[in-house]
Amino acid sequence: MRLENQVAVITGGANGIGRATAIRFAEEGADIVVADVLAEPAAETVAAVEALGRQAIFVQLDAASRELNEAMADAAVERFGRIDVVMTAAGITHGGYVSGDVEADRKMLRRRFDHADQPGMAFCAVELDDWQRVIDVNLTGTFLALQACGRRMIDLGIAGRCITIASIAAKHPDAGPVAYTVSKAGVWMLTKKAARELAPAGIRVNAIGPGFIATNMTTMVDDFAEVKDALMGQIPLGRMGQPLDIANAALFLASDESSYMTGEILHPDGGYFTE
Ligand SMILES: NC(=O)c1ccc[n+]([C@@H]2O[C@H](COP(=O)([O-])OP(=O)(O)OC[C@H]3O[C@@H](n4cnc5c(N)ncnc54)[C@H](O)[C@@H]3O)[C@@H](O)[C@H]2O)c1
Repeated sequence: MRLENQVAVITGGANGIGRATAIRFAEEGADIVVADVLAEPAAETVAAVEALGRQAIFVQLDAASRELNEAMADAAVERFGRIDVVMTAAGITHGGYVSGDVEADRKMLRRRFDHADQPGMAFCAVELDDWQRVIDVNLTGTFLALQACGRRMIDLGIAGRCITIASIAAKHPDAGPVAYTVSKAGVWMLTKKAARELAPAGIRVNAIGPGFIATNMTTMVDDFAEVKDALMGQIPLGRMGQPLDIANAALFLASDESSYMTGEILHPDGGYFTE
């Protein structure tokens, strides 16, 4: 029971990595605020947490909105009286990303191939709206959640822990579309900056930079054999990761076992970065 009676706010908690972490944290005694843009799958996460004998609430969140991040933090304190951990797993790979809508992802990936006969055009054709939404959700959204939850931790005198979700794309330009890789590189720098700024308040901030994890975000690669083969060729352990692989890393960063770590990034990536 490494998180007994603690309260964790998890953005993007409706699916994939966020949901697996909500369940893993609840197994260790935490109550959970599931914050997500999608209500239906979030209800499943809430039910899974409750089935473990812990409490959970759903909060509707668009990660890009300061107002809604503040409302999320308020709801956590109102319902549970505290925030011990925040994990920012809300994320998108392209402006039209909706978790579970594989057709939108297929279209996004196909667009890259539309420009295969014109070197450089895939980059030059990226729409500003697409770029902006990805930066707003992934990078600004992480900043806003850290601010909102960090402020409550400070007000309540809690030595909180913040866990951001970057990616191997934070350090490797081939691991995603341009706005995605740049947003994740920003999340990594934001993590280091927030770690320094919040350390005097006793709050630790660390990142996880997952490799290729089997979630709604990666389902579409099954349709593109060449892309999938290339990905698998870069993973020495020879398999995609599971959401639980990331949830276990998050548990380590949320618990006292990592009490001397801040401003760090963990890469559960099957060995991707050994090249
Ligand atoms: N799956 C991977 O291979 C992989 C690798 C590296 C990093 N990541 C990162 O992990 C995080 C979780 O992704 P996942 O793989 O579990 O995908 P997922 O689609 O299963 O989960 C993402 C969640 O974020 C939510 N979300 C999206 N936009 C939102 C918004 N504006 N406001 C609030 N919630 C929003 C979605 O509804 C969804 O529940 C993301 O930040 C992603 O970039 C994933």
